[in-house]
Amino acid sequence: MAAKLYSFVPLMQAAEQASLKGHPSAVGAFNVNFYAQAEGILEGLKRAEAPGIIQASKGANKFQGGADKIQYMLLKAMDNMKFGNPIALHLDHGDTKSAKDCVDKGFSSVMIDASKLDEPQNIETTKEIVLYAHAKGVGVEGEYGKLAGVEEDIAHENTTYADPKFVPVFLDRSGADALAVAYGTSHGPNKGKTSALNVGIVTESYAGLKAYRMNTRYFLVGHGSSTVPKELVDEINRFGGTLKGTSGVPDYMIKNAIKEGIRKVNIDTDLRLGITAVFRKYLSDHKDIEKKSEILGVIKRVFSGETPAKDKDGNPVDSGGLVDPRSYLDPVMAMDPGILREDYRKLKDEAFIEVMNMVRERIAEHVKGLCVMFGSAGLASQVDTGMTLEAMAAQYGK
Ligand code: G3H
Ligand code: 13P
Ligand code: ZN
Repeated sequence: MAAKLYSFVPLMQAAEQASLKGHPSAVGAFNVNFYAQAEGILEGLKRAEAPGIIQASKGANKFQGGADKIQYMLLKAMDNMKFGNPIALHLDHGDTKSAKDCVDKGFSSVMIDASKLDEPQNIETTKEIVLYAHAKGVGVEGEYGKLAGVEEDIAHENTTYADPKFVPVFLDRSGADALAVAYGTSHGPNKGKTSALNVGIVTESYAGLKAYRMNTRYFLVGHGSSTVPKELVDEINRFGGTLKGTSGVPDYMIKNAIKEGIRKVNIDTDLRLGITAVFRKYLSDHKDIEKKSEILGVIKRVFSGETPAKDKDGNPVDSGGLVDPRSYLDPVMAMDPGILREDYRKLKDEAFIEVMNMVRERIAEHVKGLCVMFGSAGLASQVDTGMTLEAMAAQYGK
């Protein structure tokens, strides 16, 4: 396949350069699990003329049957769409094993999240991945401090904020290109009070990078940045959902964090909510859908509770509280993985094609809007496309 992937470094560099010129900006990093979602993200980036980071978690790689399958799926979507904006394929919240595996399987950047370890061990673990990844020009993100809530398989009761003074030290010692700094955000649709957010940590961390002239080479990342739009939650609940106590990071807070130095913004939950809203509405508008589409019939049974819903680790979830599409798409994966990995328009199932087109469109518009908010719209042409993975590897080797 001809499609090309870049390290996330030149993308964040373009955002930093724009920010230095008075146009605060950050690259959106969007989580992906299945084909229509990949096309939706790419379409949103295309409409915004934005660079972007497409990221897959360990859970996403497991869902598709391996990192190579995710890479295949993304390249296929890029080829089908003749997509030309510079993008990276990134591992989200990896461990040593998955990070090395993703470097081997063609990801162009990886995150090693060793934040559960103490600082010296976190730095050592991150450095091990840096040595492995940089040899191939692949970029590396570490994590410093702990986010509140559940982060992959790492559960943190409360946020442990990053110490801004230590951020340049962490980056210098580990050699990572980017660092997720915990400043009070959390994953998922129930983020709690905004009073937990301390953007001052970003301000001070970025000031430290600038003081050491590190800001064009090392970048700060904001996780848990979904805005959790009320309209989406209301739509889900109007069509059978029972989501309660939801809240996201307000737009003005995200913009402020970008103004203060965040250059990569992570979004997963907002896409999950958009996808779930589309499925819930469609199933509600088409009562006898199982007569038309076997695939949608299988999905409907999870929403109705007839097929028990499970989370990505196989634990039971209440069907009214479904947010993660993998919970209701898992039985489809079991029918045939191609349904969720290949171009869905080739299937002989008009209703499923219709709903996947709606998913694609919903994601595209949301991603486009976020790119405008992040200041990355129009930035695709500003990325130095001479910085290929080979060029990056040569630069790291110097
Ligand atoms: O870290 C959280 C991201 O939203 C990825 O979530 O591990 O459920 O795929 P996941
Ligand atoms: P959200 O749950 O806020 O979308 O955060 C996603 C994230 O940080 C992925 O690593
Ligand atoms: Zn995260």
